Amino acid sequence: MSALVEARGIVVDYPLAVGTVHALRGVDLTLIAGEAVCLFGASGSGKSTLLNVLAGLEAPDAGSLRVCGKDTLALSEEQRTALRLRSIGMVFQENNLVAQFTAGENVELILRCQGSSAPKRTAIELLGSLGVAELADRLPIDMSGGQRQRVGIARALAGDRAVILCDEPTGALDRTNSDVLFGLLRDLAHSKGIAVLIATHDRDAEKYADRVLEISDGELVTT
Ligand SMILES: Nc1ncnc2c1ncn2[C@@H]1O[C@H](COP(=O)(O)OP(=O)(O)OP(=O)(O)O)[C@@H](O)[C@H]1O
Ligand SMILES: [Mg+2]
Repeated sequence: MSALVEARGIVVDYPLAVGTVHALRGVDLTLIAGEAVCLFGASGSGKSTLLNVLAGLEAPDAGSLRVCGKDTLALSEEQRTALRLRSIGMVFQENNLVAQFTAGENVELILRCQGSSAPKRTAIELLGSLGVAELADRLPIDMSGGQRQRVGIARALAGDRAVILCDEPTGALDRTNSDVLFGLLRDLAHSKGIAVLIATHDRDAEKYADRVLEISDGELVTT
C-alpha cells in the first residue's frame, strides 16, 4: 500500500503576547491510499492546525512532510500550491466558497484548472452526489450553512485528488446528511484509492472509518 501523506515530528508553536501555544507537539501521521481515517479531538486540540500543515497551507516549526512522495516543505510556495491543487482536496471548517461564483462555478473552477473535458456536467454530477444539484446556479449568500458546506465538499471532491482533508465537514449538516457524507467519503476512499482524513467532533463518524485517531493537546494518540 502506498503512503500518500507521511508527516513526522510536526511541531507548531503560536507565539502569544505572553507565552506560547504549543498547537502540535511532534505529530507523526501516515495516510495510505484507500483508507478513510477519522481524527477526533476536543476544541483547541490541534485538528485544524494539523490539517492546514498537511495541506501545505501552514509551515510547521519543525518536522518533515511528504505528500504523494514529494518533500513539500522543500518546495517553493508556487510548487506547493500546484501540488495542493493537483493532489489535495480540502473541506474547511469555515465555509470558503468564492462569494461571486455560483455553486456550479465554484466546483467548475477546480475542474477547469485541472483540464476537465466536461467541467459543467461533472460539476452538476458532483453537486448531485451531495443532493444539491438544484443549487448549481445559486450564489453562496443565497444558501443555508449546510447547503454551502455540501457545495464546499463537492468542490473538494472535484478533480480526482489523491488526498481529501476534511475539517468538521458535517458541522452545519443534520444527522441524515452527515451520515450520507461520511458514507460517501468512505466509499470514495475505497473505490478510488483516495486517502481521506476527517477531523470531526461527531462520534458517529467512527462507524465509517477504517482507522480512528485522537488528538489531545497537540499530541496524537491512536485509539
Ligand atoms: N493563529 C493562531 N494564533 C495563536 N494560537 C492559535 C492560532 N491558531 C490556533 N491557535 C491555538 O492552537 C491550538 C489548536 O487550535 P486548532 O484550531 O488547531 O484546534 P481545533 O482542534 O481545530 O479546535 P476546534 O475543534 O475548536 O476547531 C488552540 O489552542 C488554538 O487556540
Ligand atoms: Mg478546528
